[in-house]
Amino acid sequence: MDVRLLRPDEAHAALQLRVAAFTSAMHVDPDDVADDYVPDDHRLVAVEGDRVVGHAAAWPFGQSFGGRVVPMGGVGGVAVAPDRRGRGIGSALLASLLELMADRGLVVSSLYPSTSAPYRSWGWEVAGEHVRRRVRTRDLLDLPAAGDDVVLDAFEPDDLDEVVALHDGITATEPGGLVGGRRWHARALLPDPDEPEMPIVARRGDAIVGLSLATKTSAEPGDGHSAYGLRVLRLVAIDHQVERALWRNLGHHYSVAETTTFNSRPAEPLLFQLPLGLHLPPPTSQHWMTRLVDVPAALAARGWPPLSARVELAITDRRVPANDGAVVLEADDGEVAVTPGGSGSVALDIGALSTIYTGFASPSAMARTGRLTGADADELALLDHLFAVPAPFLRDYF
Ligand SMILES: CC(C)(COP(=O)(O)OP(=O)(O)OC[C@H]1O[C@@H](n2cnc3c(N)ncnc32)[C@H](O)[C@@H]1OP(=O)(O)O)[C@@H](O)C(=O)NCCC(=O)NCCS
Repeated sequence: MDVRLLRPDEAHAALQLRVAAFTSAMHVDPDDVADDYVPDDHRLVAVEGDRVVGHAAAWPFGQSFGGRVVPMGGVGGVAVAPDRRGRGIGSALLASLLELMADRGLVVSSLYPSTSAPYRSWGWEVAGEHVRRRVRTRDLLDLPAAGDDVVLDAFEPDDLDEVVALHDGITATEPGGLVGGRRWHARALLPDPDEPEMPIVARRGDAIVGLSLATKTSAEPGDGHSAYGLRVLRLVAIDHQVERALWRNLGHHYSVAETTTFNSRPAEPLLFQLPLGLHLPPPTSQHWMTRLVDVPAALAARGWPPLSARVELAITDRRVPANDGAVVLEADDGEVAVTPGGSGSVALDIGALSTIYTGFASPSAMARTGRLTGADADELALLDHLFAVPAPFLRDYF
């Protein structure tokens, strides 16, 4: 078994593996090679002779931590042929993917796990939330109307670059927000006859100031007699007027979709504008995981509070030797530098450091799990202060 970069003629076999792993279908059209997926130079295959038996990819994304966008490898499509599982192929792919991301300057990595065990074993840890809420679609029509200066229009392919800049500019300001880049947005927004999604842009004058992307799903419990549910995949707006215009427009689906599901922010603006009710299912939360790929580069790339601090860490990383060992972290006025050495008096593993890095778990919380040791109460308070950022969340799924 060999792990190497995907070759273009293997795209169909790789897609077949992903389909077999993640959908109810077993076979895909041979003409469909998903060439709008992750760029080939960010995709790995495991091969036995001529047969592709495993696949893993890392989208070249950015993710916002401490107010700065950090280059992030968004891991996806990790799949091993059903008859070849449990023999170390998944592990070999993750090992090579970590090397690939380090080579490409993707200094952190995040993913949505369908199973956490292999990822935790390879150093990723739970590091943020993706929350989905449901509202009654009809209620959206009761939001106050926006001014006449906001005009909604069907998205056209020529709008792509402006929409990418709008979305990524907004999510870059959200803790944990995804900066997806052109290729990832194009995949969702450009017309695809198999995906009945409905991108809509909001304009003010000549500028695009908002985007919604929604699709119909099968009705869920709680959807009464309606034929469908509405699922909002993306909704970004430059201000609350534009945001209301987009929501009100989605409200017009109420006759066929009783409820609307969307990816929520923690203090979701809709919460303050719509009636609350116990008749709707509670929000659902899915956790994502993050791993620091290159510890010194990742720590230097994040945003930090204007504090001065010096901490001597001992990091255990049994998968990436370059990260393993004692380092001194020096913070000064919003910048952090990491140099090898020091006493390593505060010890933690790479997964613990990763969830502290995103702001999901505080150093004190990780001390309570036993995965951060050696810090007294004063040092823990200082570390809590240093790493504190608003709770990270991802509205976007990849
Ligand atoms: C998950 C998957 C890629 C793992 O590949 P694999 O070749 O079977 O994995 P390995 O044999 O290298 O095992 C890797 C580690 O994960 C563990 N593991 C693998 N699959 C697991 C599972 N489904 N549940 C729990 N643990 C699992 C193994 O015990 C091993 O642990 P260790 O490193 O501590 O010894 C494979 O089972 C698969 O394709 N599953 C379906 C698709 C999927 O769920 N992908 C993950 C997407 S996020």
